[in-house]
Amino acid sequence: MPDSTAPRSTAASAPASAADRTGPPASRPPTPRPLAGATAQTVAALRAAGCVFAEEEARLLIEAADGPADLAAKVALRASGLPLEHVVGWAEFAGLRIAVDPGVFVPRRRTEFLVDRALALGREGAVVLDLCCGSGAVGAALATGLRGVELHAADLDAAAVRCARRNVAPLGGTAYEGDLYAPLPGRLRGRVDLLAANVPYVPTAEVPLLPAEARDHEAPLALDGGPDGLDVLRRVVAGAPRWLAPGGALLFETTERQAREAVRILRRAGLTPDVATDEDMHATVVVGRASAQRAPGTD
Ligand SMILES: C[S@@+](CC[C@H](N)C(=O)[O-])C[C@H]1O[C@@H](n2cnc3c(N)ncnc32)[C@H](O)[C@@H]1O
Repeated sequence: MPDSTAPRSTAASAPASAADRTGPPASRPPTPRPLAGATAQTVAALRAAGCVFAEEEARLLIEAADGPADLAAKVALRASGLPLEHVVGWAEFAGLRIAVDPGVFVPRRRTEFLVDRALALGREGAVVLDLCCGSGAVGAALATGLRGVELHAADLDAAAVRCARRNVAPLGGTAYEGDLYAPLPGRLRGRVDLLAANVPYVPTAEVPLLPAEARDHEAPLALDGGPDGLDVLRRVVAGAPRWLAPGGALLFETTERQAREAVRILRRAGLTPDVATDEDMHATVVVGRASAQRAPGTD
């Protein structure tokens, strides 16, 4: 599942255009920047370390560095294999700059497809739950894309929850620490309109085959989904009917190969399944809708 953690540079990370800058008058020489001239050296160091997007990464590292010594330290970390996002402290996701602390799962661009599907099903004022939230990137993107949502996020990993708090609190969201639904306030039962759960879904035997950046720098808890990759998902689906509002939707990512079994799991839980794929993003999203009427025994 996890793709490369290549730089995620977009408009969100781009510096202001020259036209936007209010620089010194043209007649005066520009004030030298402490890192002026660092680019060529940084690119060379990154290229020597095997970074494919050396120019782009150099730009982001220079932007993030607090002086030459800090830049040298950051380049050394990156050259040692630390994901760029962990070095600079953020990832670009759905047009947002998401804080990502060391060890926390780096949100993947393919997960923007899950966000798109959820936004299509959402509405203003929706109750949104980002389960297995990691950095809280999915919840933050949903709260940004829909107006006035009530946002909740939860994860078992304390470092992820600390990170998620930084990303969701400015959007009015709350992050909880604990196993799946266990830390959530009971008042959310039967009220969740959008339940996004980008669970770990790599089959255990395939974890060693992941790129080193994921394998060595993201928590195994964030990657390993058990023998067929669907262990955490089964538990999420089993609990979902109690938390979903009538007509609410559970959305999660799988591989194409896992989607068929995921559909069976949803049907057994009484949720109506649908599968969407985006070939360009190599993304498969499975949706399970709750009935518009409340099912007996789900209060
Ligand atoms: C694949 S990462 C996804 C993170 C985030 N949703 C994203 O898309 O960037 C899976 C996350 O699930 C969390 N997780 C794994 N098992 C969990 C459990 N039993 N309860 C809550 N969170 C869990 C991990 O800590 C990790 O942050």
